[in-house]
Parts: sequence; C-alpha cells; structure tokens
Amino acid sequence: MTEKKKVDIPDALDEEYYQINMDILESFSKYRPPLDLFRFMEDVARIVSFCRGGERLTNEQVESLAQLVEEGLIFVSRADHPIYVKHISYQLDLVLVDKNLHETEVADIFTQALTRRLAEFFDQPVPLVLVRLWTDIMVLTEYLFKDIHRIRALTRRLHTVHSLENHSFNSGIMGLAIHTKFKAQQYEAGDIKRKFFDHLAVGLFLHDLGMSKVPNFIRVKDKGLTQDERGKLQRHTQIGYEMLAKLDLKFLEVEECVTDHHERITGTGYPQRKMGGAVGEVGRVCALADSYCAMTVKRVYAEAMEPMKAAAALVQDPGYDAELSRHLQALLVMTGKHKQTTENPPK
Ligand SMILES: [Fe+2]
Ligand SMILES: [Fe+2]
Repeated sequence: MTEKKKVDIPDALDEEYYQINMDILESFSKYRPPLDLFRFMEDVARIVSFCRGGERLTNEQVESLAQLVEEGLIFVSRADHPIYVKHISYQLDLVLVDKNLHETEVADIFTQALTRRLAEFFDQPVPLVLVRLWTDIMVLTEYLFKDIHRIRALTRRLHTVHSLENHSFNSGIMGLAIHTKFKAQQYEAGDIKRKFFDHLAVGLFLHDLGMSKVPNFIRVKDKGLTQDERGKLQRHTQIGYEMLAKLDLKFLEVEECVTDHHERITGTGYPQRKMGGAVGEVGRVCALADSYCAMTVKRVYAEAMEPMKAAAALVQDPGYDAELSRHLQALLVMTGKHKQTTENPPK
C-alpha cells in the first residue's frame, strides 16, 4: 500500500471541492462512479476533470483512480451535493468516515436516509426491514452522541408536508432535541448511557408504528370521524405495542414511546388515562415532540401553526410537562425557529 502523501490543497479549492477517501471510492460503482471526479495536479496546483459521472472507466482508469485516491488527489465538487447526498444516504455509515461533509450536508443525508427507511418499514413492518432502519438510526445516534449539539442542524431540516414517515422523522428529531436540551448537563457529563439514547431514538422514530395498520382514509380524516373510526385510530398505540412484541423489540424506552405518547399528565389522554407521575419522562418527551410536530405541519384538517405559537400553546396546556415545554421554547429560539414562518421554511 502506498503511503499517504500530504497534499497541499489551496484554500479556495477546499470550498468548492472535497477530497474523497478509499471508503467513499469503494462505495461507488467500480466502473461507473455516480458523479464527476476531479484530479488535483500538484505541479500546477490546479484541478482537472478525471471522469464524468456515469461514464464507463477502463481497467487502467480504475487502477489509476484507486492509486490517486490513496494519494489524496481525487476530489468531488460540492456542486454535486444532491447526487452525493442521495448516494451516501444508501450507505449511511459513510457519513461517519467522511470528514469533509459540512454539518448541514450531513443533516440532509440523515433526513433523506431515515425518512426513506421509515417509509420502507411502515410499508413492510417485518424484522428484515427493521434491521435496516435500526442500523441507520444507530449511525445517527453514534453521530449525535459524539456531540449532542449536532441535533440542531437536523431540527432545521424537518419536513413541512405531512405523511406517516415525515411525521415520524420529525418527531424523532424533535424528541431527541428536547431531551438533549432538557438533560444537557447529564449528556455533557457522560451520565446518559448510550444504550438509553439508542432506545430513546428508536422509540421516538417508531412511536406511531401502529398507525401503519390503520387504514389511510381514517388517518388523514381525523376531524369528523365516526365513533367506530375514532376507536380504530386510537387503537394505534395498542396495535403498535403488539407489533413491538412480534418484532421482539422489547426495550422499555421504545415501549413507553409507543404506548404513552397520547397520555396526558392531567389524565385526559388515551388509552389508559394515566395521570401525573404514571407518565414517565420518555413518554412525556414523546408526547410533546409528537404534538409539536403534528401542530406545525399542514394537515388535511388544519393549517400549520407557527413553531413559537405551537410551543406557547403547549406550555399553556397542563396535559404536557411544563418544564419540557419551556425547553422546547428555548430550543426554538436557539435554533432560530422563532423567526421562521411556515410559508418560508428554512432550507
Ligand atoms: Fe400517535
Ligand atoms: Fe405521532
């Protein structure tokens, strides 16, 4: 193996291109890289085209490409970001090894990858598909656990259109953001266990898995439901719990998210009308994230609420944990959501 050379890259170049490593190269189709590749010519300190995206490479080119990547001389253009995001979202663990991605680029990749995995799982809630979703959620928790503040870039990438997978993604991200804000000191001090964080994340993303068994016409209707339809809709927490058992997903935090996210500490929720302390911390976080995400997205029966207005309504509502709701408000101010209007969601 060639010893890796230290290549002197001009700063201006670094803004437009970034170097790829062997892990990234190996994730590409060997003979047809999916995007334009560039070669840095050290002697003239200039970047030139190596090959076009989708172009068939010869055996010699494949060999020389591997050699050049080893030497740190192959680059991709940041302008090809959308293609790269799509590519890497299929092999999410590459996010952890690609040191050149900006935080916002990583957030885009997670958003695409996890939303797609959630959609696949709701479509086919079987162990094989769950493993793929689980694996990708673990890449996210690995990434976030190194620095919990990274969650903030993700809260700026929430979906603005409602669907079960979009809502689940949004609730997962907001739930993690609320919990890491609420327990910031414990996270910083290393008092939160990685296993807990993993299971909390899975629970938040899957809180509505039972909805995948509720007919779509009932799911989108909500207002004006018959009693029978409302009963079916409200059974989604119980259905979800049964699905967890079948999937052998028996973790307390996951179960709590699924069964308790419609419970309210005033005893006015469902299915068990739990009160006060009977609704645990995980259930409370999930309830708050779930309601906030439902309120701030346009639905068939309601317009999207402004983020700060939704948070203010939740602070006023005694069914939610007031301390958590205040952390949500603070989080929205910190991430600039208080300036956001729903007509102009941030890119
Ligand atoms: Fe729900
Ligand atoms: Fe929900």
